[in-house]
Amino acid sequence: MFPNNRLRRKRSQGFIRDLVRENEISANDIIYPIFIESGKKKKTKIKSMPGIESCSVDKHLTNLYKLHKKGLKAVAIFPVVTKSKKSLNASEAFNSMGLMQESIRKIKKELPDLGVISDVALDPYTLSGHDGILNDKQEIDNDKTIEVLVKQAISHAEAGADIVAPSDMMDGRIGKIRSALETQKFFNTMILSYCAKYSSNLYGPFRDAVKSSKNLKGSSKDTYQMDFGNKIEAVPEAEFDIHEGADILMVKPGLHYLDVISLLKNKYSIPIFAYHVSGEYTMIKSAAKNNFIDERKVVFETLMSFKRAGANAILTYYAKQIIDWLK
Ligand code: PBG
Repeated sequence: MFPNNRLRRKRSQGFIRDLVRENEISANDIIYPIFIESGKKKKTKIKSMPGIESCSVDKHLTNLYKLHKKGLKAVAIFPVVTKSKKSLNASEAFNSMGLMQESIRKIKKELPDLGVISDVALDPYTLSGHDGILNDKQEIDNDKTIEVLVKQAISHAEAGADIVAPSDMMDGRIGKIRSALETQKFFNTMILSYCAKYSSNLYGPFRDAVKSSKNLKGSSKDTYQMDFGNKIEAVPEAEFDIHEGADILMVKPGLHYLDVISLLKNKYSIPIFAYHVSGEYTMIKSAAKNNFIDERKVVFETLMSFKRAGANAILTYYAKQIIDWLK
C-alpha cells in the first residue's frame, strides 16, 4: 500500500508504459467486412457509412491486394443482392454460380493466403428481408431455414471459403452445418458462429448497404436475435454452438456488449471475435467528420477495449484505415 506502492511509477515514462502494457493491436487482430455487388468496375457509396463503398469483386481485389501486403489476414464478405434475385425461399443463397460463390472463388484464386469468411444468412436473399424462411403464419420457420442455410454453407465451402459464418441465430444450425461439412469431407472448413447476436439498433447502415431495410418494412428481428436486456442467455447460446461444432464464437455488436465478450471469454476456451458493427462505425465517423473527436485515437481506444474484454480479433469497417495507421 501507499507509499510503498505507487502505481504511478510504472506510468511515469514511455518506455515502462510500453513494457507493461497488457494488450497490443496489430494487423493480426483485424478482419475487414466488405460489401460485394455484381458486375465489373462498380462502386456504390453507402450514404449512412461515409468512406465505405460496396464494389464489384474486381474493384475489391485491387484494394485487398494492397491491404493483404500490409498485413491484412482476412475479409468477411457480404453480398448486395439485386431485387430480382430475392425470393420467398431464398434459393439464390445456394446458387453455385451466385455472387457470393463467384466472389469467394475469385478472391481465393487471386489471394490464396487471405482468409475468406463468408456470411451464412438469408436476409440478402429473402423478400421479407428476414434471415429466415416464413411459414404460413408468417413466422420465421427455424427448421426450414436451417435446410437452406446448410445448402448455402456447403456452396460457400465448395467455392473455397475458409470460414463459414452463420449470422442468422436459428437454433441448431451449427450442428447441421457441421455434419454436412463432415459428410462432404470439408474437414478444415471452420465455423465462426454468431452465437450472441443481439437484436440491435446499430445495424441500420448495414441494412442500407445490403438493401434489406426496405424489405423489412420496419419489422424487427426480435424473434430470433437476442434481447439486449440479456447477458446470461449468451451462455447456453455459446455452449450449444461449441458442442455442435463451432470453432470460433462471435459477439455482435461490439462496444455495447463488452460484458458479453468478457463473460464468454472467462467461461470458454475457444477464440472469440467481436463485430464492431455499421452503426458503431458511423457514430465514430460522424463525430470525426465534425472534428469533435480525434478519429485515429478513438478508433485505437475502441480496439483496445475489445482486446481488454477478451476478443481475439475484431471485424471492423475501419480495417483499411487501421492497417494504414499501423504502418
Ligand atoms: C444479417 C446481418 C446483419 C449484420 C451482419 N449480418 C444485420 C442484421 O442482423 O440485420 C450487421 C452488421 C453491421 O451492422 O455492420 N445476417
